[in-house]
Amino acid sequence: MARMIPCEDGDPIELADLIEALNDDAFDPGDEEGFAAMAPLLRRLAGNRDFLAGLAVAELKDRCARQSLENRYSAQVIMLHRASEKYFIRANFWPSPQDSVVRNSGLAPFFYHVPHDHNFSFLTVGYLGPGYWSEYYEYDYEKVVGFPGEPVGLRYVETSRLEPGKVMLYRAHRDVHNQLPADSLSVSINIMEASNRLPFLSQYRFDVKSCQIAGILTRSATEALLALAAHQGGGNARDLLERFAAHHPCDRIQFAALREMAIAAPDVDTGLDILARGTGSPVRLVAEMSRQEMNRLQAGRDWIEGRPVSAGA
Ligand SMILES: [Fe+2]
Repeated sequence: MARMIPCEDGDPIELADLIEALNDDAFDPGDEEGFAAMAPLLRRLAGNRDFLAGLAVAELKDRCARQSLENRYSAQVIMLHRASEKYFIRANFWPSPQDSVVRNSGLAPFFYHVPHDHNFSFLTVGYLGPGYWSEYYEYDYEKVVGFPGEPVGLRYVETSRLEPGKVMLYRAHRDVHNQLPADSLSVSINIMEASNRLPFLSQYRFDVKSCQIAGILTRSATEALLALAAHQGGGNARDLLERFAAHHPCDRIQFAALREMAIAAPDVDTGLDILARGTGSPVRLVAEMSRQEMNRLQAGRDWIEGRPVSAGA
């Protein structure tokens, strides 16, 4: 499970004190021990019972200007600090099934019941309320290719909750959790690893019953733009797509370039020819995803070509 880090009680600190420590050049969130060493400071920030409400009031007085600029999450998150390339700090709200926001919107917007890993490490502390529940698992990222349906050796560890003052380090590409609703509204505070390479590292959704990868959660701007380029970009875009398909250092982007060329092809057979190239790739993710996409394209051929779709199809 995520690594629990026991911390002694200490005097509460301000958010600025934590930021000062994290801004030290020696802090490297990619180093597990270095990240874990920040746990006592995060625990002491959690002992400060006023700072979060004070920050919320300050944001409201400023019409949430900083949240508009820096917060790419939903209203579940308050961005507390984002100034470094290496990390940011946020507060997360975890509603319970009894809260009106869940009764009106359901559980899905809060990422409950979605077993997943993370393509970044983060340190978290329970700040308010009883804490969200998690079923914790671990897996061996090095043994995984990363395609949906791939068997993964998920190992169940335990079910526990992020209680107030409890500090945990979620390790990138190792810890998996199935997050379950808090018994009543809870808040956690996170120090998140940040890096320009994260969009190229995949985060997975898992089926914990069948122990398989259920989907890839990472969606980068590159993948979205490849789709536009394939349909609108002409010869220049085609060159770029071919280059990405052949040489991009991220295997997920390699496949995305192939897929978008296939989708933009003038007919199904041309699309299948493009994907067939992918099935021969020495990159296992590209080969398997291309095979899956060929099956999807074949299955949808009648619909794509405007023929009546047979019953049961
Ligand atoms: Fe998570």
